[in-house]
Amino acid sequence: MAVFSWVGSRRLLSVGALSLPLWFGVSEARAQDGQSLYDIGCASCHGADGRGASPDRIAFDDPLPDFTECSFASREPDADWIIVAKAGGPVRGFSETMPAFGEAFDDAQLQSVMDHIRTFCQESAWPRGELNLPRPLVSEKAYPEDEAVWTTGVNAESPGAVVNQFVYEKRFGPRSQIEIKVPFGFAPAASDSEWGAALGDVGVGFKHAVAHNDRSILSLATEVKLPTGDVDRGFGADAVRIEPFVALGQILPNDSFLHFQGGVEFSTEPDVVEHEAFLRTAIGRTFTSGEFGRAWSPMLEVLGSVDLESGSRVNWDLVPQMQVTLNTRQHVMLNLGVRFPVTNTDQRGTQFLAYILWDWFDGGFLDGW
Ligand code: HEC
Repeated sequence: MAVFSWVGSRRLLSVGALSLPLWFGVSEARAQDGQSLYDIGCASCHGADGRGASPDRIAFDDPLPDFTECSFASREPDADWIIVAKAGGPVRGFSETMPAFGEAFDDAQLQSVMDHIRTFCQESAWPRGELNLPRPLVSEKAYPEDEAVWTTGVNAESPGAVVNQFVYEKRFGPRSQIEIKVPFGFAPAASDSEWGAALGDVGVGFKHAVAHNDRSILSLATEVKLPTGDVDRGFGADAVRIEPFVALGQILPNDSFLHFQGGVEFSTEPDVVEHEAFLRTAIGRTFTSGEFGRAWSPMLEVLGSVDLESGSRVNWDLVPQMQVTLNTRQHVMLNLGVRFPVTNTDQRGTQFLAYILWDWFDGGFLDGW
C-alpha cells in the first residue's frame, strides 16, 4: 500500500517499509537543514543513525559504510565524500549502488548533508582527513597514516647507486602511528668497486599528533635507526641513531599546504658517526583536473642538515617534485622529483627520486582503478 505521509515539511512516499523521496519534495526542502536532507536522500540506505540500513530493508549486497566509525569517517576529507554524493559511487571507484545526487541537491545542500554526516562521529580526538596533505618525497608528514611507500632514488652521477626505501606505516588510535623503514639497493663497494645489492639501516619509528585544529596538525616523533646497513657500499652508518623530531602540517589558502619537519639525529658513537641536526620543509598546491578528476600536487622541498660536532657547512638541497593520484579511488599515488644539492656540491650529487604510495586503509592496491 502506498501512502503519502508528511514529516515536517517533507513529503515521503512510503511503500511498505521503504521510504522514497519525491524529488519535488526535495526542491521544497531547499531551505532545510542537513539532517532533513540526509533523512530524505540518504537514510533509506545509510540509516538514520549513519550505521547503514539493516540488510532486510535494502535490495543490494554492497556493504554500507559506518559513518559513526571515527577511525574510518574522520580520515575522509569532506570534498571526497561530497564528490561521491554528487557524482555517485563510481567517481571514486565505489559501487554504482551509491547514487548521484548532483541533480537533486545543489552544492550548499550537499555541504549541509556532509555537516550532518560529520555529527555521527563526535570524538574530536581524530584529526580530520583534510590534514592528510600530499606527502613530499623526503620529509615526514605530521598526520598519522596507514600507508605503504616505496621510494627509489637513482644517483645521476658516477659512481652511481640505486637506493630504495620501503616504508610501512600503521596508525593506531586517533593520533598515533608506528612505522618500519627498510632501505636497500645496489651500489659499487668502496673497497673493490664491484656493484652489488645491499641492505641499509633499518629504522623503526613512533609518531603521535599532540595538537590539531581545522588547519594545522603538530606531531612529535622518534625514530631509531639500527646499523644493519652495508657501510662499504655507502648504505649505512656504524652506530645506532636516535632521531627525535617535530612535524607540522599546515593547510594554506587556495588548496596550498606546508610541511615542516625538524629534529636531531643523536648517534651512540659520536666519534664514528656525528650527531646531526636537520630541517625539512615542503610547500605545494593541489590542482584537480576536471571537477572530479585526478589530483596533481606540485611541491618544492627544501632539505637542510648539519653535523653538530665538526660544525661543517650546512648541506642544503632542493627537491622540486610532482605528486599525482593514479587511480579513481585516489589512494595510490606517484611522486617524481629531482634532488639538487645547493651547498657542498662536491660531497653530494644530483639524485632522481620517485615513490609509489598506497593508502592501504582505503582499499587493496588493485581496488578502485
Ligand atoms: C540506494 C542506496 C544509497 C543511497 C540512497 C545513498 N547511498 Fe551512499 N552509498 C551506498 C552504498 C551501497 C555505498 C558503498 C559503495 C561501495 O563501498 O562500493 C555508499 C557509499 C557512500 C559514500 C562513500 C563512503 C566511503 O567508503 O568513502 C558516501 C560518502 C556516501 N555513500 C554518501 C551518501 C550521501 C551523502 C547520500 C545522500 C545524499 C547517500 N550516500 C545516499 C548506497 C546509498
